[in-house]
Amino acid sequence: MDGAEIETIEGLGTQNDLHPVQAAFVDNAALQCGFCIPGMIMQSRSLLQDNPDPTEAEIRKGLSENLCRCTGYEKIIDAVQDAAERMSSDQTVATDGGDPTHGTTACSNRKCSRGENDE
Ligand code: FES
Repeated sequence: MDGAEIETIEGLGTQNDLHPVQAAFVDNAALQCGFCIPGMIMQSRSLLQDNPDPTEAEIRKGLSENLCRCTGYEKIIDAVQDAAERMSSDQTVATDGGDPTHGTTACSNRKCSRGENDE
């Protein structure tokens, strides 16, 4: 392991500049207690780097060594699928860490992570 790099969630994004995977977890409410989330996000990022368009089964297999005692995994799967779309469409993340469509012409008509309606 000499010379190996270790990247943690702290190095992935900031409150004002979330990584697309972090933003997708927030926007999909993919957490409850939050204990598992750093590992889930880092593993999801790694999964999406290796496989940018994973199936649900591939996501479940890719995250199978990360245990969550709270969510039942459904929202986590949704978040990874959302992150894959964001990364493939090269969407940027809002500088406030919220919905990446805020402040752009592509605003959606759904309730965002900040509890605001876009329209
Ligand atoms: S959100 Fe609590 S363990 Fe995953």
